[in-house]
Parts: sequence; structure tokens; C-alpha cells
Amino acid sequence: MYVCLCTGVTDREIREAAENGITSMRQLGKELGVGRQCGRCACTAREILRESRTSDYLSMANLLAHPA
Ligand code: FES
Repeated sequence: MYVCLCTGVTDREIREAAENGITSMRQLGKELGVGRQCGRCACTAREILRESRTSDYLSMANLLAHPA
């Protein structure tokens, strides 16, 4: 799904950026240009970034709680 229409950035690209260490909207703007033009995508992009970080945290916590 397109999140930022101004730059053509998708939710997948934002999740990939989060996996590659992007943690803030400022970094996301620098890296992909998200939120740097009209700004309408900022809330959605921020939410996707936050969800990505939360799912990473939950995966790690689950791994630590239940080692193989
Ligand atoms: S939709 Fe992202 S800056 Fe306009």
C-alpha cells in the first residue's frame, strides 16, 4: 500500500527501513523522503514505524523467553 503519495513510498519500504535501523520520522524523511512534502503521510508512516519496532521487540522478547 502506498503511504506517501508524494514520493511513492509503500508500507513495505517503511518496514524494510525499520528493519535496517531507521527509528525516527526524521531518519525516515532523510532516507526515503517520507513526510517532507505535503506531510499528510506522517501519522500513518509514524504508526507503521512504531508497529515495526514493537513487533521486533516482541519477537526478541519471545525468543528470549522461549529459547530453542
Ligand atoms: S504524502 Fe507524504 S509528503 Fe505528501
